[in-house]
Amino acid sequence: MNSAERFLQDFHQRRPGTTPPAFAELRLAGRGCSYDMLAATLDALRPDARVLDLGCGDGFLLERLARQHPRAQLLGVDMSATELQAAQRRLAGRGLLLEERAQSLSLASASIDAVLSHLALMLMSDIDQVLQEIHRVLVPGGRLSAVVGREFLLGELGQHYLQVFRAAARRDQLAHLPLVDPRAQSERGWRELLSQHFTGLHFEELDLPWTPTFEELWNSLGDTYDLDRLTPANQRLMKNELHDATEHLQASDGTLSTGWGLLLIQARAV
Ligand SMILES: C[S@@+](CC[C@H](N)C(=O)[O-])C[C@H]1O[C@@H](n2cnc3c(N)ncnc32)[C@H](O)[C@@H]1O
Repeated sequence: MNSAERFLQDFHQRRPGTTPPAFAELRLAGRGCSYDMLAATLDALRPDARVLDLGCGDGFLLERLARQHPRAQLLGVDMSATELQAAQRRLAGRGLLLEERAQSLSLASASIDAVLSHLALMLMSDIDQVLQEIHRVLVPGGRLSAVVGREFLLGELGQHYLQVFRAAARRDQLAHLPLVDPRAQSERGWRELLSQHFTGLHFEELDLPWTPTFEELWNSLGDTYDLDRLTPANQRLMKNELHDATEHLQASDGTLSTGWGLLLIQARAV
């Protein structure tokens, strides 16, 4: 386990359930939120299909799938015990939850019809090994659908955020944390990663609009990996700096126009 994976495990042990509040309300007209768009990729699956949510967190997606596919055999894997406890409460016995690393799954080969993953795949260290495992557990022709991060805070706001965060990281002398493999940061890189084990690759860029007030923005940033690594005093300083740097972007109602850039990936196991 490398430093990035240790950080992720520690973060999710301390703070389960931070992802759904940030993403469940961000919608595209006619498509719903990113969880809905991921779930929609299963529409053609047979009713009793075996579906694995990899990096399932607190079970938000699994709960949706349980409603939409009442006969599906649902499984969730996550390396965080507290995320899985939250998922257990949500699912109340619907689905099997496994505490394990995606790099080394206990599931039998060719035992799963579809693997879904929402904002988790790009965070997984040794991504080659993870994709090999996904391929191993999928039946031939089985489906992989993943929503991964593409761009954090779209537009000018994102540029100001980066500048201000970099200065804050320097103040706290934060070491570089390689959370995302460089190949998992572009469609080209994903093609390279996936082409060994998957076919029928399909990519769709999703820009989910978000217009928070500054306070809403800051509250949401408080649940991110970046802010979690800063000391409280440095966070307060960064808040003031970000406020000053972005004040000119506020509309007359006090909101800021930004969004989240995501990538929806679909593929089939060779
Ligand atoms: C950003 S959260 C997303 C949670 C959930 N999919 C959602 O969108 O609500 C990422 C999740 O991936 C899990 N995770 C990261 N790397 C993992 C790995 N190598 N094996 C298993 N789970 C992992 C974390 O514990 C965390 O719960």
